[in-house]
Amino acid sequence: MKYAIFPGTEEKVSVIGLGTWVLGGENWGGAREEESLAAVDQAILSGINFIDLAPFYGDGLAETVVGKAIKGQRDKVFLATKCGIIRSNGRVGICLSPESIAKELDLSRKRLGVDVIDLYQCHWPDDNVPVEKTMEALLHWQKLGAIRHIGVSNFGLELLKRACAAAPVRTLQVQYSLVERKIEAELLPFCIQNNIGVITYGAMGGGFLSGKYQKKPQFDKADARHMFYKFYDDQKFNDTMRIVAEMKKNKFPLSQVALNWVRRQKGVMTVLAGCRNAAQAKENAAAADWELEWTLQD
Ligand SMILES: NC(=O)c1ccc[n+]([C@@H]2O[C@H](COP(=O)([O-])OP(=O)(O)OC[C@H]3O[C@@H](n4cnc5c(N)ncnc54)[C@H](OP(=O)(O)O)[C@@H]3O)[C@@H](O)[C@H]2O)c1
Repeated sequence: MKYAIFPGTEEKVSVIGLGTWVLGGENWGGAREEESLAAVDQAILSGINFIDLAPFYGDGLAETVVGKAIKGQRDKVFLATKCGIIRSNGRVGICLSPESIAKELDLSRKRLGVDVIDLYQCHWPDDNVPVEKTMEALLHWQKLGAIRHIGVSNFGLELLKRACAAAPVRTLQVQYSLVERKIEAELLPFCIQNNIGVITYGAMGGGFLSGKYQKKPQFDKADARHMFYKFYDDQKFNDTMRIVAEMKKNKFPLSQVALNWVRRQKGVMTVLAGCRNAAQAKENAAAADWELEWTLQD
């Protein structure tokens, strides 16, 4: 494994991070606890210390499972969870009010079985709460020692600038992959200039870029690969398949090519890899063991 320096500190975080959305089961066709526990164990064994979570993943299940897996090995991991996606009466919404954050933080710490969260990230922007108010709440929890660092996710440039003016925002989490490169225009240069660590998600296109699909797969309506990752849509499927064909010019597993490509982009601190089981965790961690020379021709 290779490690990056977490901005503003001397701490090391793995360049491949464990993504845990799939461990929540929901939106990913279910998850089996035994497999999930083994995935976390294998990730740690492979040198991954950065684990990304959110209460939204399986309505708390991902945090509960990771809490179980890290019992007795808390010192080996850097825990990054989030606030802001809430559920009420069966509906999902966004809320970054101080009151909601207080409740979410309390529950996350309980589920994870820890007193302190290493990185606490706003999951998505809340149009109804000024970001300054949200940052004030996060600073409060940071002062109390419940969270060590503040991060944001899915913020656009203007909102990110406002958040940075209100609090020491250390990281930005965004989608970035061979098939989704929007951040290259503004966000990535801004983060490089301002020493904000970029954490990327979707590097494998939700599994698509592993090359496992030969024809368009069918998923449930609420499955992430139907409602979140649009490369599976009719319109985009063939374009994405052309990229997969190009990736095959490498001799390494395509999942590693996909992760390695993102890892090699300037400004990227940690590439999250969603891993369903120990085999995927091992294969994905190994993407840090070699250097990709290939690049996608425009
Ligand atoms: N901040 C946000 O809004 C946000 C949004 C999305 C994700 N995230 C975070 O980023 C993490 C990573 O993103 P993601 O999980 O959505 O997408 P991803 O990493 O692009 O894809 C993960 C999926 O790819 C498949 N896969 C993984 N390793 C594989 C391998 N070696 N070979 C073949 N298939 C493999 C697995 O699904 P199958 O086994 O089912 O194919 C896995 O669930 C998430 O877990 C989450 O922590 C954050």
